[in-house]
Amino acid sequence: MSDRDPRWSLLAIGRFPDEVKTDFGEAFDCAFLDEVPPGGVNASLGAREALIMSFGTELRECAIQALPATLKAIATYSVGYEHIDISAAKARGLPVLNTPDVLTDAVAEVGMLLMLGAARRATESIELIRGRNWPGWNATQLIGIELLGKNLGILGMGRIGRGVAGRARAFGMNVHYHNRSRLAPELEDGATYHVDFAGMAALTDVLMLAAQSNATTRHYLDAARIAQLKPGAIVCNVARGDLIDDGALIAALRDGRVRAAGLDVFENEPKVDPRYFDLPNVFMLPHIGSSTIETRRRMARALVDGLLVLKAGGKASNRVV
Ligand code: DGY
Repeated sequence: MSDRDPRWSLLAIGRFPDEVKTDFGEAFDCAFLDEVPPGGVNASLGAREALIMSFGTELRECAIQALPATLKAIATYSVGYEHIDISAAKARGLPVLNTPDVLTDAVAEVGMLLMLGAARRATESIELIRGRNWPGWNATQLIGIELLGKNLGILGMGRIGRGVAGRARAFGMNVHYHNRSRLAPELEDGATYHVDFAGMAALTDVLMLAAQSNATTRHYLDAARIAQLKPGAIVCNVARGDLIDDGALIAALRDGRVRAAGLDVFENEPKVDPRYFDLPNVFMLPHIGSSTIETRRRMARALVDGLLVLKAGGKASNRVV
């Protein structure tokens, strides 16, 4: 294909910042929809060559099978792609692109926010001052713990896990990790590898979940694994909500087995387990890990570049399948 070939026409479903719509519009003939129309994706897709959608819009097997033959690519505006039936896309020979790498830093920064928010009792602090009930400073008020010198246990030492590790080191934490396999020394960067979770959990002051969501990791942090954690540990989740068995974590937060939690992601979003709202030791954010304008622009760029490579017949580096 040459540069003079017509631009792909594309349907983007989801709410995107104006800057991102501009980025898409400069490269493709774009139609935008805030959400999937009542008649389903195909009702608006027509003969367009590419579909951009995001986390929260599901594309299961029958939906993928029903996509028009004119469609040449699906691109998800997210690093996670568990909302797409990848095997069905593969069976149809339909490439799927995602946005790896570009949101690592934004998510790792939120990882630090979660640890600090949980350790320093941010929920109670914010409620006290915003509720206009603060009686003034006293030495017993809202005493938390420091991250300095604490053991951070990271489950899943991929890009985001390593991004958190680097920042945590700067806070004076000792980094431990459990992963399917040990990393090369330059990626490990001094972190201590644990071949099993229990070995890491026993010395973990702050657990950071940074693993992918899949059948193996679903409800990974259950009552049995919580019992393996050092008593009074903090639990943080920057990955996906379904890594946690909410009932088990809530019970441990209630009885103090787990000191506090910092959560940016939840199972069944946006329906957060209501029991979390009654727990002052839970610092919660509404899945804002990648929500910075810098990252949103980089995610758009990754999809635009990948789609242009596919259009030209090349192999996009962010092709999942
Ligand atoms: C991602 O890209 O997977 C983020 O969690 C937002 O969906």
